[in-house]
Amino acid sequence: MIVNLVAPRVWGCDPDILIDHYRDHVTSNHADIGVGTGFFLDRCGLPSATPRLALIDLQPNCLEHTARRLSRYRPSTYLRDVLSRVDEIPGGPFDSVALPGIIHCLAGDLTFKSRVFDNIAPLTRPGTKLFGYTLVYDGVRQSASRRLVHPLLNRLRVIDNANDHLGDLRHALSTRYIDCNIQLVGCMALFSAVVPTAASIRR
Ligand SMILES: C[S@@+](CC[C@H](N)C(=O)[O-])C[C@H]1O[C@@H](n2cnc3c(N)ncnc32)[C@H](O)[C@@H]1O
Repeated sequence: MIVNLVAPRVWGCDPDILIDHYRDHVTSNHADIGVGTGFFLDRCGLPSATPRLALIDLQPNCLEHTARRLSRYRPSTYLRDVLSRVDEIPGGPFDSVALPGIIHCLAGDLTFKSRVFDNIAPLTRPGTKLFGYTLVYDGVRQSASRRLVHPLLNRLRVIDNANDHLGDLRHALSTRYIDCNIQLVGCMALFSAVVPTAASIRR
């Protein structure tokens, strides 16, 4: 319901755009953080039938549901809070790491939430692709339904994005990564970036 009704009508972002965003960036050595129901990961189609796929979430029920849904890929599941350092995941770093629809759930402003980018460092190496999407407040004023629904969802603590702004997301990415891209679709910010090598940081 959220994906097919709320996403296009309230957020102004068609689910197919998010599926395409996955397809553009997901690899066959992938960690997904904040899996929810696994809808987008299921629909995007991984580049290999036998990927290394790690599902990471705070909630056991989300991990169980998504692992069942994606059982064809034989995923591993890890109960972790991304507000703390995400370590002790066996098998070494990943080629892609996604933070899809999780940042707008975290409490605080984007400057505070940006610690998640540091906390996921153990999952990455130079060249790892980071991508995801998050609801920012910048696009909220554009539509009457968004002006109603966003404050309500914030009050109900379903999301916490009243202080999440595109400029802060851009700053959080560009101070840590290279090849940073952000596209605002409705009020959904689709982002991607690459973990730099030491040499590219010095440049
Ligand atoms: C809105 S759902 C996003 C689901 C899915 N990725 C999508 O794109 O529709 C947010 C997910 O993030 C998880 N989550 C929220 N806070 C978290 C935290 N601090 N650490 C890890 N996972 C968290 C929730 O349990 C939930 O599965």
